[in-house]
This record gives sequence, C-alpha cells and structure tokens, in this order.
Amino acid sequence: MTLMDDIAAVDVATLETVDLAGLQRVDIDQVIAYVHDVGTAKLPEYMDLYRRYLRQRWDVYDLDFTGDHEDWAAMPADAKNTFLQIASGFHHGERQVEVELGPLFLGIPENYKVFLSSHLEDEARHTVFFDRFYREVVGLPGDSIMEVLDGSYQWISETFVGPFGLLSYLTDQLRRDPYDKHLLMQYATTYMLWIEGVLALAVMKITLGYARDQRVLPAYYAGFTATCRDEARHVQGGMRYIRDLLDEDPSLAADLFETLKTVLIMSSTSSRYVLYEPLGWSEQQVRSLLMEQLQKKMAMIGVDMPPDIAAMVGKIDPVLAGG
Ligand SMILES: [Fe+2]
Ligand SMILES: [Fe+2]
Repeated sequence: MTLMDDIAAVDVATLETVDLAGLQRVDIDQVIAYVHDVGTAKLPEYMDLYRRYLRQRWDVYDLDFTGDHEDWAAMPADAKNTFLQIASGFHHGERQVEVELGPLFLGIPENYKVFLSSHLEDEARHTVFFDRFYREVVGLPGDSIMEVLDGSYQWISETFVGPFGLLSYLTDQLRRDPYDKHLLMQYATTYMLWIEGVLALAVMKITLGYARDQRVLPAYYAGFTATCRDEARHVQGGMRYIRDLLDEDPSLAADLFETLKTVLIMSSTSSRYVLYEPLGWSEQQVRSLLMEQLQKKMAMIGVDMPPDIAAMVGKIDPVLAGG
C-alpha cells in the first residue's frame, strides 16, 4: 500500500478507535487538532483517560519497517539530516521522560496515579518505537536500547540541555520533596505543557506532514501518528492537573509563568542550528507553530497569556524535540 493514497478526514469516534493500520490513513493535522477538541470548558477525568488508553494501546511490534527502509535510502541527504536532528530529540526525549516520571507518582491525586501508570507505559513504548526506527530504517547498530541511543546522540540539538535539562533538575527536586505544590506546578509546566504540549506536537506536525506529503515512511507515519494520539491523552491529563492545581491555589500561576519564562529564555539561544527548509518549513513558520500551540495550551488551562511571555515566544530559536 502506498502511504496516504486514501487519506481522508474521519469523525472523532473513528479517530478515537481506529487501529494502528487505520492510523496510516488519518491526517496528522487532524490528530493534533484532536488534542484540543476537548474544549476549554471541560477536560477529561483521569479515569476516562485511563479507559481511553486501554482502548487505544497499540503494539509497537506490529509495525513493518521494510518499506520505510527503502524510502529512507531514496530520501535527499539534506531532508534526512533535518529528519535525524528532529527524530533524535524524540529518541532521547521519549527515553528521558519514561525514566523521569517516577517521582511524580508520589504527590499527585490517586486517580492521576492510575492514569500516569499508562502514560509511563506509553513513553516506554515510544522509546521502543524509535529504537526500532533507528535500527531498522536508519541502520544504527547496537545490542541494547542504550547503545542505539548512544548512536543517535550525534544529531541531538541543544533543546536537550534546555527544557530537558530543566526537567531533569525538577525531577531531582521532586524526588527530594514530592508533595511540594510549587515543584509539581513547575514540573507539569515543563513536561506536560511545554515539552509534550508545545514542542512534541510541533515536531510531529513537521516530520509527519513531510511523510504525508512526500508519501514516504509508512510505518513511521502509522507509529508516530499513534504516538501523537497517545500524546493527546498525556497533554489533556497534564492540563487537567495544572488547572486543578490553579483552582486549589491560584498563586501557583506565578510558578507556571516563571517556568515558562525560564524555558523561553533557554530556547532563545542556540549555537547549533536545525535547518527546517528541507522539510518545507521556514524558521518563522516554526515559531508561529510554537506560539499557536502554546496559546492552545493556555486556553485549555483557562489562563490568559501574559504579554511578556507572548513577546518571548517571538524571539525563540526553533530547536525542537519532544516526548
Ligand atoms: Fe508523552
Ligand atoms: Fe512519548
């Protein structure tokens, strides 16, 4: 089957229930829009998200990367390079969030704990998805998950020492004091709002849009679109948590804003550039995409974007990765 030959808009019920093979015929833009379809008035309950996980869980070993391997060999060198820079952020991002969810379990509400167990399993599966992609499509050698991660590290951009470094720091702080509401807000803002809700969705739109338009990498398309549908649950759960924290204590908005400012300051400088043009995006378009995604998350949690934060997004240097 050729990728995207029969792509068509589907209704939300189909989007929510379609299997891995069916996701190959769903437009990635529709899945990204679906993240916000829940509306701003009502975010799903954690147990509803958990039930959705049980229905949507997919088997990463069902994918067949044979066609992707052939497509990869024929892709232009500059497109491959950009693709690798973006995908490597994900390869390492998925792995990092998988191991750094641990300390969050202690201080969150009981229902969120149940849902978070599924979120963690998703991230482990996404790590395996990229492990397979790098072995079977790109051709990296390695006997273990870590050896393949070491192999893709050469393409990592500075995004990793920015938001992911902050997440690593906050994880360590949370490990020492897992019930501190300020830390919990800072952690959720860094991880669920920025890394998953802004960076990851933006990157998905860029790489999956390329695969869709060029009609290449069918297994990558199906698996990563399924990953995007998983992210919809993670982001909705995270935005629910941020909103609940704010309802409980509105002064925690200060932690939300300070964390966003920290992330944006780190994102405004880089010495190693990712060139997006080979995948069809200008830097300004990437910046607009990040701004749009941030605005949608702020609407989900019911908070107006402060003008100083909006101005900072305009200065961002679009280096991307996600989890
Ligand atoms: Fe995620
Ligand atoms: Fe993920």
